[in-house]
Amino acid sequence: MIKINNICCIGAGYVGGPTMAVIADKCPNINVNVVDIDEERIKKWNDKNLKNLPIFEPGLAEIVDRCRDINLHFSISVEEKIYEADMVFISVNTPTKKKGLGAGKASDLRWVEESARQVAKFSSGHTIVVEKSTLPVRTAEVIQNILRSAEQDNHRRGISFDVLSNPEFLAEGTAIEDLEYPDRVLIGGDNINAMNALHSIYSRWVSKEKILFTNIWSSELAKLTANAFLAQRISSINSIAAMCEATGADVREVSRAIGTDSRIGSKFLDSGPGFGGSCFKKDILNLVYLAEYFGLNEVANFWQSVVNLNNWHQNRISKLVVKKLFGTVTGKKIVVLGFAFKANTNDTRESAAIQICKDLIDEGADIWIHDPKVSKLQIEKDLEMAPIEQLEEIKENKLLSKIGKWRFSKSLDIFDKAHAVLMLTEWKEYKNIDWIDISKKMMNPAWVFDARSITDPSKVESANLNLWRVGDGTSK
Ligand SMILES: NC(=O)c1ccc[n+]([C@@H]2O[C@H](COP(=O)([O-])OP(=O)(O)OC[C@H]3O[C@@H](n4cnc5c(N)ncnc54)[C@H](O)[C@@H]3O)[C@@H](O)[C@H]2O)c1
Repeated sequence: MIKINNICCIGAGYVGGPTMAVIADKCPNINVNVVDIDEERIKKWNDKNLKNLPIFEPGLAEIVDRCRDINLHFSISVEEKIYEADMVFISVNTPTKKKGLGAGKASDLRWVEESARQVAKFSSGHTIVVEKSTLPVRTAEVIQNILRSAEQDNHRRGISFDVLSNPEFLAEGTAIEDLEYPDRVLIGGDNINAMNALHSIYSRWVSKEKILFTNIWSSELAKLTANAFLAQRISSINSIAAMCEATGADVREVSRAIGTDSRIGSKFLDSGPGFGGSCFKKDILNLVYLAEYFGLNEVANFWQSVVNLNNWHQNRISKLVVKKLFGTVTGKKIVVLGFAFKANTNDTRESAAIQICKDLIDEGADIWIHDPKVSKLQIEKDLEMAPIEQLEEIKENKLLSKIGKWRFSKSLDIFDKAHAVLMLTEWKEYKNIDWIDISKKMMNPAWVFDARSITDPSKVESANLNLWRVGDGTSK
C-alpha cells in the first residue's frame, strides 16, 4: 500500500481551499499544503481574521481555525511543496477558451498544462497526480504525456508518476457539508495501487460503498455529465416557469406535483433567474465542443439548447422589469437584492445578476445593489464599470474608467424613492423584509420582482406593492 504523508494542492480556489481543509481536518497525520500563484489570495487564506478568508462557505472558517499552521498550510512555495509531496492535486481554473481553436466552448487548459509541467519539473520520487479540476475527457492523457517525458529525461532519474481523476462534486454554498457527507467520491485510474492510496484518504470519513472506482475517461465524463444534467433541470423548470406565467399556472405547484414522482425527484426544481456559477455553463459548452469534435451534432445541439434557454431566461427578466415599469426605467431607482450567483457564497462568476444589471443600466436605470458577502470591487469588475459615485474622482484623476449608474450599499436602508426591488439571490436576510415599512419609502406605484420566490405574496400585496414572481401566472 502506498502511504501518503504529504499532499500538495495546486490552486487555492473555491475547490482547492475547502477540499484540502476538509482532508486536513479528517486526516491529522497528513500534512496538507495548498499553493497558488496568486499572492493576494494566499495572504487572505493566512489572514488572522477569519472573516477575511478569500472564500465564504459556511463551516470553512472553523476548519481553517482548527487546522491552519498545524497540518494545513497555504503558501506560494509551489516548487518546494511539489517536491515534498507524495500526492499532488491539480485544482486550477479551467475556464472556457476566449480565443483560438474551440473559443467560446472548449476549456482553456493552459493552467492545467502549466501545473503538469511544474509537477514534471519539481517532483521527487514517486508522485500520484490527481486531477481535481473539471476537465474534458482524455485530458489525463495530456498530463500523462507531460509526466512521461519527464520520467524519460535523464536529468530527472528516479521519478515516476501515476495519474488519477478525482472530480469534485461540491456545490458552492454547501461545500463543507458536501465534502464531509458526499453522495459519492469518484476515483478514475488504471493503477489499482494509486487508486487505493487515494481511497485510503477518503475512507477515513466516507463509507466504502460511496467510493467508486472507474476508468479514468468515465470519471472525467461523469463530472461533465453530472453538471450538464443539473443545469438541464434548471433550464427545464425555467422554461416551464415561462409557460406558467403565460397560462395562469404556478411553477411552484407544478414543481411540487412533478417532484413527488420518485422517477423525477424534488431537487433542482426551483425556478430562479437562471443558472450561474463558474461550472454549469462552461462544462456544458465543453460537452458541446466534445460532441461536435466527435461529429455528434444532434448531441451537441441538445446540450447547447440548455445554455440558450438560460441566456434567454435571464434576458427575459430584465425585459420584463422594463415592461412592467411602463416601458421605461430611465432615471428610475431599482434596488437589486443579491449579486452572488446563489446564497451562502461570495462567488459571482456567471451570476444572472451581472447580465440583468448590465441590461438595466443600459436602459438608463439607477441601480442600487446590496449583497451581504460580495464586495463593491467584485461587482465593479463584473459589471466592467465603476459606480456613479466615483465620477468626480475619475474626472479629477483623468482616468479612463467606464462609469455606470449603479451604487453599492452594505446596508439595507436603500429603498427610499425606489420604483422597484429586484430579488436575485435567495439570502436569508431578504426573506424577512418588512414590506409594509418599505412600501412607505418607495414610489407609488412600485414593484417587487422576485426571481427567487422568497417573498410571501400576501405580505407584499398587503403592503400595496405590485408583485411579479418567477413562474407565477396567478399574480396580476
Ligand atoms: N467552483 C466550483 O463550484 C467547482 C465545483 C467542482 C469543480 N470545479 C472545478 O474545479 C476547478 C477549480 O475551480 P475553482 O472554482 O476552485 O477555481 P478558482 O479560479 O477559484 O481557483 C483556481 C486557482 O488556481 C490558481 N492557479 C492557476 N494556475 C496555477 C499554477 N500554475 N500554480 C498555482 N496556482 C495556480 C489560480 O490562481 C486560482 O487561485 C475548475 O476546473 C472547476 O471547473 C469547481
